Amino acid sequence: MTADDPVLLALGSINLDLQVRADRWPGPGETLPVRDLLRAAGGKAANRAYVAARLGVKACLLGHVGDDDFGEEVLRGPRAVGVDVSQVKRIAGQATALAMIVVRGDGDKTILLAANANEAWGEADVEAVVKVVEAAPEGSVLTVDLEVPIAVVRAAVCAAQARGLKVLLDPSPADRMPDDLYAMIDVITPNPEETRGLVGVEVESAEDAVRAGEQLLARGVGVACVKLGDGGAALVTAGGREVVSPLDVEVVDKTGAGDAFAGALGVALLERQELLQAVKFAVATSSLAVTAYGSQAAYPDRGQLERARGGREPRG
Ligand code: RIB
Repeated sequence: MTADDPVLLALGSINLDLQVRADRWPGPGETLPVRDLLRAAGGKAANRAYVAARLGVKACLLGHVGDDDFGEEVLRGPRAVGVDVSQVKRIAGQATALAMIVVRGDGDKTILLAANANEAWGEADVEAVVKVVEAAPEGSVLTVDLEVPIAVVRAAVCAAQARGLKVLLDPSPADRMPDDLYAMIDVITPNPEETRGLVGVEVESAEDAVRAGEQLLARGVGVACVKLGDGGAALVTAGGREVVSPLDVEVVDKTGAGDAFAGALGVALLERQELLQAVKFAVATSSLAVTAYGSQAAYPDRGQLERARGGREPRG
């Protein structure tokens, strides 16, 4: 790779994930025994950067960690796969964000998030991110989530727009999405819960996802990729609608699958893959991401992805 190669910029959360498996959520006052404790690096931006590096492109992580031990721990994995973590700032006196994750038997998860350093941004920090976007090589792609303040997201998106760089937004958490941001987004990637939060549509079928995608387009986004509960996605553009089925895999844990989708889609945009191919690439990556316990640990490299795509038929 050379200094001129395009970069996947990942702006958003960097968390330490503490994950357990449980059969149900505890009732009020109840202590519920759980199993399979996992302590691992996570966070939506860190996960996107990680999967992008695994898939073989340059990735740069933009975000904050605390000046505690977790701050170093959460960057070790991304650094080891080649993610550029030089722009991640350690915030003095802040704790690194902590995600407490409970995974149920069917692989679905619930997350409690202590945002800590993810929310600690001053004006100079926002300017530093804008400078990175302004200096990124031609053809780079900005990916953002909403687990950092909207002010930094908006500033980075504006800088990317001014450069003509593509912007992918994973709208999580959906209640933070401001109305004026839609028109600045090339590709939006909500899951069913986020879709309900954004446009009030319950995504129970591919038709629901397409309908929701059309409403997102009406708000100004260029392309809507609405994820389905089965791991597939509906691609909605001004020119048409397509539904992509997931690979036929055994679901172990859905944590981080959406980040794998967003990161892989960002890679495909950076590689200028045709849009439907790009969504198939992203769906296949997130299909593999659910086959192991934890987020980053389950992300495939390019060879694993291509072998799986060659050998496994999409479901349905
Ligand atoms: O999307 C999964 C991620 O969400 C986890 O890694 C956790 O950190 C939360 O931000």
